[in-house]
Amino acid sequence: MLVLGIETSCDETSAALVIDGKEILSNVIATQLDLLKKYGGVVPEIAARRHAELIGYVIKESLDRAEKTLDDVEAVAVTAQQGLIGCLLVGVAAAKAISYARGLPLVGIHHIEGHIYASRLSNPDLPFPHICLTVSGGHTMLLYVKNETSYELLGTTLDDAAGEAFDKIAKFFNLDFPGGPTIDRMAKQGNRYAFHLPRPMLRNNSYDFSFSGLKTAVINMFKEKLAKNVSLPIYDIAASFQEAIVDVLVTKTLRAVAEKNVQAISVTGGVSANSRLREVFQEQCRHNGLAVYFPSLSLCTDNAAMVAAAGYARLKRGQKSNLRLNVYPNVPLEARDED
Ligand code: KG4
Ligand code: ZN
Repeated sequence: MLVLGIETSCDETSAALVIDGKEILSNVIATQLDLLKKYGGVVPEIAARRHAELIGYVIKESLDRAEKTLDDVEAVAVTAQQGLIGCLLVGVAAAKAISYARGLPLVGIHHIEGHIYASRLSNPDLPFPHICLTVSGGHTMLLYVKNETSYELLGTTLDDAAGEAFDKIAKFFNLDFPGGPTIDRMAKQGNRYAFHLPRPMLRNNSYDFSFSGLKTAVINMFKEKLAKNVSLPIYDIAASFQEAIVDVLVTKTLRAVAEKNVQAISVTGGVSANSRLREVFQEQCRHNGLAVYFPSLSLCTDNAAMVAAAGYARLKRGQKSNLRLNVYPNVPLEARDED
């Protein structure tokens, strides 16, 4: 089944064509990096307008790159849950229009479910059940993934998402946006043990996260040293900050793995591109006899191929949406647990 996927939940306008949830024929992503750099982050109204300008071109480009036309498309999957409301509306309106005009099945997808499928697209052998850590600019979630469409939320962030913490620290130090890749690069030249920063909620029994205190600790440390005219080595700060985040993410994930007695971990979302996070997960999993799976780098951040793949799994089970499909900016993933 050839599924057209559409993703516009935040700042990437994306359309993709994927066969049977496995074979990616095209995955076009138009980023709003110019706007992000200009405003230092996503401005929801401006992002939604940019999606409206681009969506038609991006869908056309996805068909052209796959050498297909709308006549070949058999279903439409679109991110309808979790994201910025105006942005989600653009993608859902486009998907509904194509579904109605062509008489095609339509399925609304939760953005996090899309990220879960990004890992499956890159790793078809990813087993169930597994623990999935989804870490991006908008979310930090630890999930017990029971089967293809059934999830249990174990923990989430109480304040900033992991990617948001990277972005905010980068902004404070006037570094390039988005901050994650910049700090990742800089950390390679720094000493990760130079500063001992707090590991928020690490010793706490819950699976929730909190990164806002860590961010404040870095900023306060910098200000204190500055007041005493002691300059801080920025590369060491980047490395120590990154290490604190990685430590919390890996430790909590391994604790969930032990409690649920699973053998596999999947790490998805923009922050799963982080080289230190990948390195520590790989080391720890080798040591503990576990398997860890990451999406390919191009599927870590928001894209429509993951939405098409998630849509195929739902359609295969006979689950589809109708033309009343609405957008829900903030709905938990378990609300979709139909099994
Ligand atoms: O999944 P995504 O494209 O969008 C959301 O759903 O939020 O993730 C974007 C986030 C940004 O916060 C960005 O800084 C972060 O992922 N990111 C990284 C890396 N690459 C992207 N964070 C740490 N290290 C990276 N290499
Ligand atoms: Zn995302």
